[in-house]
Amino acid sequence: MATVESAISNGVVGRLENETHLDDCTEPSGKRVKLGNTNIGNRVTVVLGAQWGDEGKGKVVDLLAVDADIVCRCQGGNNAGHTVVVDSVEYDFHLLPSGVINKNAISFIGNGVVIHLPGLFEEAQKNLQKGKGLEGWESRTVISDRAHIVFDFHQAADGIQEQQRQEQAGKNLGTTKKGIGPAYSSKASRVGLRICDLLADFQEFSKKFKVLAGQYKSMYPSLNIDTEKELECLKDYAEKIRPLVKDGVYFMYKALNGPTKKILVEGANAALLDIDFGTYPFVTSSNCTVGGVCTGLGIPPQNVGDVYGVVKAYTTRVGVGSFPTEQSNELGDLLQSRGREFGVTTGRKRRCGWLDLVLVKYAHMINGFTAVAVTKLDILDVIEEIKIGVAYRLDGKKIPYFPANQEVLNKVEVDYVTLPGWCSNTAHVRSFEELPENAQKYIHFIEEFLNVPVKWIGVGKSRESMIQLF
Ligand code: GDP
Ligand code: IMO
Ligand code: MG
Repeated sequence: MATVESAISNGVVGRLENETHLDDCTEPSGKRVKLGNTNIGNRVTVVLGAQWGDEGKGKVVDLLAVDADIVCRCQGGNNAGHTVVVDSVEYDFHLLPSGVINKNAISFIGNGVVIHLPGLFEEAQKNLQKGKGLEGWESRTVISDRAHIVFDFHQAADGIQEQQRQEQAGKNLGTTKKGIGPAYSSKASRVGLRICDLLADFQEFSKKFKVLAGQYKSMYPSLNIDTEKELECLKDYAEKIRPLVKDGVYFMYKALNGPTKKILVEGANAALLDIDFGTYPFVTSSNCTVGGVCTGLGIPPQNVGDVYGVVKAYTTRVGVGSFPTEQSNELGDLLQSRGREFGVTTGRKRRCGWLDLVLVKYAHMINGFTAVAVTKLDILDVIEEIKIGVAYRLDGKKIPYFPANQEVLNKVEVDYVTLPGWCSNTAHVRSFEELPENAQKYIHFIEEFLNVPVKWIGVGKSRESMIQLF
């Protein structure tokens, strides 16, 4: 009977000699070994957005990734835009995990991610031109064979759907038009195509591709699909990615159960954009909360370790949808311009408002944050009085939950507390004690309201501009 290690090392999971189970519990001597969860292996550290995205997840991941072995993406696609500033070079990542800059870490794109292959290579090319950080990225990138593919027609359909929403309902969702909704729809409808299909029999893949393209063409007659050309490109991409593709479940299993490793998971999008828990329908199409880590990587829940929430010191939102603490006034303009609040993926101006702790607490209820990172505190440096949203009221009565329905959410009135600002520059500060007293109080207020410790405070774009509290 093969031992677990030898069974695994023959590499063909599911076709092991003598039908040996992966976790066979019989030693070669025939003695039964004790089963149980006493040794659950490595745990992954997760970084998640706690608002509507663009909280600075990329920067937090970059910081943690300095000594990481593996950095994973588990959901979303190139709708995400994560900025990392190292040695004055600003890198933008969409599909690649921000840890790809660390030459000693493996970047893993999990099964829950939807991949637009031309987008992936464009992203790498653009970042290669910016600095040395991306050199050799392909040799340290692993792609799950179960990840679904975003085709050009998914992206085109995203645009058409937005146009139709505008025409039919008078408003669209404000998507990034990266084909995310259509690609996840194909996945859920069981007509999607995966990386493993692309790398198997190309003729079979082409047949399925044509069927799917045909379906899109009949749904959207104005769609222009050059099937032969796209297939030709996909054939090239298949060869380019072949060396990077692995069985994702087995890859993670080995990573979790081998020698001690530091494994990070970089969330994309954010809690309030989550398909189940976000401000539906103004959300993205994946689970951006902690459940997406298990389903998007194929790992057991007991291997999830620390879960860090990233909270911007105020609130921003790109695209359409309710935003109870939005400030469509001079204050909003000030936050927008000081924070340079433009979407990384679409270049759209981000809507801005006060920090809303009701929604951050809601994100915490779902994710169970171990600690949070508060980013962009420096943007508040010039504001004399700072407000924080602490409760929602409906018809004058406080509600203890975050409303599911958008019409209801549109109606809530926000209770604010007003804290004195600090009106001094924090960009150079590197320790909590050096922060102005009122900035310290702002942080303590967040901690006490959420009952979660603040572990980091961001006071600038660069890797160094992060105060670590413990
Ligand atoms: P992500 O999508 O959550 O990774 O965030 P984005 O990269 O889309 O947006 C965050 C923006 O804020 C980027 O331009 C970052 O460089 C910048 N940023 C992150 N943390 C800080 C901070 O503490 N202070 C300032 N001034 N900028 C920051
Ligand atoms: P990161 O990872 C901010 C928003 C879009 C739109 C909605 C649906 O950088 O924080 P989609 O293209 O996903 O179907 O768009 O979700 N959105 C984001 N907003 N940051 C993001 O990612 C986003 N990803 C999606 O603006 O309102
Ligand atoms: Mg972003």
